[in-house]
Parts: sequence; C-alpha cells; structure tokens
Amino acid sequence: AKRLETDAGTSANDHAPVLLSYPSTSSQQQSTRAVPFQQPTCLLTFSYTPQRIMEFGDSALRYYIDPPPGADLRYGYERWIKRPEERARLDTLLKAIERVLHISDTNMGPGSGKKWLRDIALVTWRGVMTKILTAPYEERDSCVLNAMLVDGTLYLEEHLTDARLAEKEDLPTRQRQQTYYGYAFESWCTSSRPGVPERIHGHPTGWGGDVDTNVQWCSVVKTKLGDSRLVIGGEVDCVREHFNGQPDNFVELKTSMSIRNAQDEARFEKKLLKFYVQSFLLGVPEIVVGFRTPAGRITTTQSFKTIQIPRLVRGKPHAWDPQICLRWGQEFLASLKARLSEQASSAQTGPSPTYSSRVWRVTLTPGLGVSVYPLDEEGVKEVQGGEDRVGFLPSWYFEQVAE
Ligand code: A3P
Ligand code: MG
Ligand code: MG
Repeated sequence: AKRLETDAGTSANDHAPVLLSYPSTSSQQQSTRAVPFQQPTCLLTFSYTPQRIMEFGDSALRYYIDPPPGADLRYGYERWIKRPEERARLDTLLKAIERVLHISDTNMGPGSGKKWLRDIALVTWRGVMTKILTAPYEERDSCVLNAMLVDGTLYLEEHLTDARLAEKEDLPTRQRQQTYYGYAFESWCTSSRPGVPERIHGHPTGWGGDVDTNVQWCSVVKTKLGDSRLVIGGEVDCVREHFNGQPDNFVELKTSMSIRNAQDEARFEKKLLKFYVQSFLLGVPEIVVGFRTPAGRITTTQSFKTIQIPRLVRGKPHAWDPQICLRWGQEFLASLKARLSEQASSAQTGPSPTYSSRVWRVTLTPGLGVSVYPLDEEGVKEVQGGEDRVGFLPSWYFEQVAE
C-alpha cells in the first residue's frame, strides 16, 4: 500500500489506503510471547488553575475519601463551571518536557536533555494512547490523529474537526447531565486534606466543592512498550493518603450503572478494558468505581486493583486480552514510524515542507484499520489554526528540538 494521497481531497480520509489492519480479537489467535510494558515512573506533575493556567506543582491535587452513603450525583449541576471544548493540543505536555530537558541539562550537562529526548519514540496524551491500544476492540468511534516525526520522536495529537467540537459543546441535556455525574462523583470522593471529608459552608459534609472542569491535576510519566520509550501525560483524579512523587497511590475514579443482571455485568466487563488501559498507562494502581442508579444516586463503591482487572474477564464470552492491545500498540508504532520515515518522494502540492515539519493524518476506523496520509498545505493551515506553530507543534518547542 504505497499509494499516497496527494490530491486536494485530503479533507476526506476514507480513500487513503489502509496501512495496517487490526489483529483478530478471538482468543484462539493469540501467540504466547508477552510484550513487556514497563512500570511507568513519574517525571513531573502539573496543575491547571480555575483560570485554566498550567502551573508546575500540585495545587490541583486531591485526596481520596469514601463518598457519603447514597451520594447524589445531581448535586451542584447548575453551578458546574464547564471548561469550553477545545482542541486537545500537546502544548502543556511539551512545556513539561521542556522543563524535564532543562533539568537534565542542569544536572547532567548541556545537550543531555536532547539526547534523552532522541530516545523517546512517542510523546502524547494518555487519552490518545488509550484509543490506540483499545482500537482492535472498538466497535463505534473512529479516532483521527495528527502525527509528526521530529528528530526520531513521534508526536500525536487528536484531530477534532470544527463540526466535532461543536457537537461536543452542544451535547443534549441528558448526556450533559450524565457527564456531570462523573465529575460530581469526583467531588464526593475527594478532599483537600488526606483522610478528612470536606466541610464547606452551605454544602453537605463530604461535598468536595462545586465542579470546575478547568481544574485538573496531571502526571507526566515515562514508560516503555516493548523497545519503544514513551512519554505520556494525563489527568490523575486523586491520590490515597499522600503523593510521594510516584504513581503508587494514584486513584482513578469512575462511575457506572449498577449491575442488575448478567447483561449489565457483561457490559460492565467490556467497559473495564478502557478503565484498565487508561489507568495502567499512567501507572495508576487502583480504580474506584461508584455504581449508580439511573437517577444518579451512588449505591455502592468498589475498589479494583488495576493489575487484577484482566483476570476478571478472562475466559468469558466478551473477554478482552491486554496482550492483544499491547502487541497491537507495538505494531502500530513501528508501522507508523516506518511510514513517516519514508523519504518524502511523493509529489507535493505547493512548497515542500521540510521533512520533520510535515504533518500526517492518521485515522483508526473500527473494523477496518489504520490509514495514513500527508496533509497538504490547506490541511496544515487548518491544524495550525492561525497560531504560531510548525505543523501542530508550537514554534517555541519545535525550534528547540528540531535539528
Ligand atoms: P466517568 O468516567 O465516571 O463517567 P475520567 O473518568 O477520565 O477521569 O473522566 C471524568 C469524567 O469525565 C467521566 O466520568 C465522564 O463523566 C467525563 N468524560 C470523560 N471522558 C468522556 C467522554 N469521552 N465522553 C463523555 N464524557 C466523558
Ligand atoms: Mg479524570
Ligand atoms: Mg475518572
């Protein structure tokens, strides 16, 4: 599949050739060789303030606390400060990496940061990596990414069209309320002090504060999938007891409908794949699930050890296998890197961008596979959004790392 998409029709991606198809998810097909995934270590943490300013440090860190019995997830809905939907740029993750490079240069001598970065195969958000790894099992949603390969490191960001952004901003009320349930659960389950339920004047005991989705606490980790070193950033909901600089005490919070029958149970166990992948990518060892009624009342909570989740589903008809995801992830990265490294021999429309500033569109379509094509000038302009960028990377970053 060597044909390149070079005509003007790059806004439609249906006709780019399939670079890679998904592995079979039926259990007979598995090989026995396990793909190693290294325990993630935390490089640094950062916070977003209510003004959505990114700052290094733990101002947005929260501590886990059991929610009060029967906690009401509708509480505070009308006071929800909702962060506007925006393109999930890599910018703050890159700021974090810049800081890591600076610290490395200071401690180990000039140039050592860049040398370290050259060994990193991939930089992306945890959410992107979750979508890639779970793609063989995804039945509904396509995943559209922008990719750049700069000095041997692959950068991936999610590509949201204006239409998709508008759609996310204008969710039907019902869906918006359901989304809020997840955030309300986070508020009931967290406190500003370890082990002590929050008491805020004018609110029931245990309410952690009105939901402001601008505020987030994030961890940037390094890890290794097979031979590929990865740097991944993502939000961490809270920690147990205290934060010791590593993911040991990280807790992921999730809500799910109460399980009433075998069908509910199967649905929940299918969903566990995403909970599991999302959590292990950042090294989060514990997931606390709040089971709720349709009307948003917590009935029970259950804590899961992340590493034990795969064995809960093993052997069941709707089972999933994390090894299939990891092997797939490895194959995806290798193929994408090979494809993006191919000499840019194809016909170019307009002035030829330098090799490393080229932007590629990567589409993962359920049941079909992955297609890749280089964006033309028009496409790159759309990705830049009128901002000071080389491809989709901020110029200040690109200039520091590109050769
Ligand atoms: P639940 O996961 O409990 O439903 P996260 O679980 O990743 O920390 O995200 C917190 C909440 O954000 C989710 O709570 C959900 O309400 C909302 N959310 C996250 N990803 C979403 C998505 N893809 N679509 C809709 N809501 C989402
Ligand atoms: Mg979260
Ligand atoms: Mg959560």
